Amino acid sequence: MANDIDLQDLRVAVTGGTSGLGLALVRLLTGRGARVAFVARGAQTVRHIAGATGAVGIVGDVGNKHDTYPVAMQITGNLGGLDALINNASALGPTPLALLADTQCEELEQALAVNLIGPFRLTKALFGALAASAGAGRGAVVINISSDAAVNAYSCWGAYGASKAALRHMTAIWAEEAKMERISFLSLDPGDMDTPLHALAIPDADPTTLKRPDRAAMEIVTALLAALPNYAVRAVAEQQ
Ligand SMILES: NC(=O)c1ccc[n+]([C@@H]2O[C@H](COP(=O)([O-])OP(=O)(O)OC[C@H]3O[C@@H](n4cnc5c(N)ncnc54)[C@H](OP(=O)(O)O)[C@@H]3O)[C@@H](O)[C@H]2O)c1
Repeated sequence: MANDIDLQDLRVAVTGGTSGLGLALVRLLTGRGARVAFVARGAQTVRHIAGATGAVGIVGDVGNKHDTYPVAMQITGNLGGLDALINNASALGPTPLALLADTQCEELEQALAVNLIGPFRLTKALFGALAASAGAGRGAVVINISSDAAVNAYSCWGAYGASKAALRHMTAIWAEEAKMERISFLSLDPGDMDTPLHALAIPDADPTTLKRPDRAAMEIVTALLAALPNYAVRAVAEQQ
């Protein structure tokens, strides 16, 4: 992505915008002028990040169905529509990570609620706004943040891995079904990053071997812009 690219016309919603990759996305996008709304559960941190970045901070739990429409309405109301949704918030399942035989049913349900059903509900609630953006020629894209645990059967990652695998497959089906509305759906694995989630999962990992969330955010935003006609044309022009 070009360093001087101006994103003033872009309206983006990011779930899980107060830490790790989500926070890096909020900072990168607002830094380039985009209008951004983000969601997280911790009210105090949401207020702090909103104040520091100029993004719209929304307190909500993507795993709670009662939050879906209030969150969606705050997103579209504050941004005046929506061009891109990044479903980034995630739950690990049991911590310390556990074998499936030692995973409580409720822990699996919680991972599915946050990592699969939550993105499904929010996408449905925002589908009309995204279709309107696509119909107006602005393009529209949904990015679901995936993981290598969606494709590899890592021992002790059962709840998280199963939820991410289901999200990845659902993204592929959304992509087929939303062709008519010209909404793009992408499943992107950011790689192993130095974030609180990674530290919770693998406390003894050496952070110097992990990707910086800023770098992963740059890769995600590059893919996001490539899926939007106005920016994709500009990116090709810049390469020539
Ligand atoms: N870190 C890695 O190595 C890695 C590798 C592959 C994929 N990923 C994926 O990358 C994404 C970001 O991970 P990360 O490492 O940046 O995580 P993180 O540092 O733990 O940040 C998670 C963010 O999501 C919010 N959140 C968590 N549960 C939520 C819920 N139920 N509702 C709303 N917000 C919620 C958190 O704020 P609150 O707690 O205040 O809600 C926080 O802002 C995830 O989808 C993860 O699966 C990460």
